[in-house]
Amino acid sequence: MKAAIYTQYGPPEVLQVRQVEKPAPKKNELLIRIRATAVNSGDWRLRKADPFAVRFIFGLFTPKIQILGSVFSGEVEQVGEDVKQFKVGDLVFGHTDMRFGSYAEYICMPENGSIALKPETISHAEAAVIPFGGVTALHFIKKAGIQPGQKVLVVGASGAVGSAAVQIARSLGAEVTGVCSTANIALVKSIGANRVIDYTKEDFTQNGETYDVIFDAVNALSVSRSVKSLSKNGIMILSAAGMPEMLRGFWISKTSNKTVLTGVISHKAADILFLKELIEKGQFKPVMEKTYPLEQIAEAHAYVEKGHKKGNVAIEV
Ligand SMILES: NC(=O)c1ccc[n+]([C@@H]2O[C@H](COP(=O)([O-])OP(=O)(O)OC[C@H]3O[C@@H](n4cnc5c(N)ncnc54)[C@H](OP(=O)(O)O)[C@@H]3O)[C@@H](O)[C@H]2O)c1
Repeated sequence: MKAAIYTQYGPPEVLQVRQVEKPAPKKNELLIRIRATAVNSGDWRLRKADPFAVRFIFGLFTPKIQILGSVFSGEVEQVGEDVKQFKVGDLVFGHTDMRFGSYAEYICMPENGSIALKPETISHAEAAVIPFGGVTALHFIKKAGIQPGQKVLVVGASGAVGSAAVQIARSLGAEVTGVCSTANIALVKSIGANRVIDYTKEDFTQNGETYDVIFDAVNALSVSRSVKSLSKNGIMILSAAGMPEMLRGFWISKTSNKTVLTGVISHKAADILFLKELIEKGQFKPVMEKTYPLEQIAEAHAYVEKGHKKGNVAIEV
């Protein structure tokens, strides 16, 4: 089968499309013919081993996992003998969690993995871009227990995680303010934000407003400064926090009436099913800016790494 592989950490060009062995499903696995995947921030970080600590988990000198990509949408081509929930021909989408391997024509996934039937109303490319940002946003929003009528501020509302956070919080009845650049105001309004703040013109920490939940999806905030814009008992979500923000957040949670949520999420089928139902109810639409063919995976990585994509970038396989 065709796959984009990398055998050394480095710039986008280390990704090469090659022929590799097609996987075979175990008893509890599905063999999925992938039709679309996506380039997410996690992919380019692994490709260039950024931060360096990546190497302690994924290979000190060379990557142990040679096929990147964590999301997919495609068709079940074969099922192992113990598989009960899916059948050949089902159209499915999902997330590989830490297994990666979706920059390829085929992948094997355990049937109890993070997989669901693809909503009929969306394309494979649209389905593939949902799980990364969607499940990340959902995980933290559930943890924060967002209630109808609460005021929620989403920083990075035009990105993969942020655009999902805006829509999920709105579906729960929250009043959402999105923070984005001038070029993305129309996009953030179109996905349902009640208000938009252009961060190039206005600093939300200076306008006197407070929020029940502040969700920073792109690690753009000064935690100490923005925590003052939280209401009493407010919650700050730092889904993209590095170690300094995590430590700061831990200290704020211990010493004040505010809570800071950080951490690495894991992917479960229940979350994918929740998002599928939200799409079917018309309350969530994947935001996709561009689609590249698998052969242009290096170009797609170079673009995503710049950090200015609108929503998501899909790859057609
Ligand atoms: N905790 C976890 O387990 C977990 C899971 C998934 C992802 N993450 C992390 O989440 C981060 C973000 O992921 P993502 O894929 O959603 O990001 P992304 O899509 O790459 O974010 C890019 C978007 O953010 C906007 N942006 C950039 N600087 C901004 C600022 N100062 N204020 C507001 N918006 C800004 C950009 O538009 P402009 O440049 O035009 O403003 C662009 O639309 C990554 O660091 C990733 O590692 C963590």
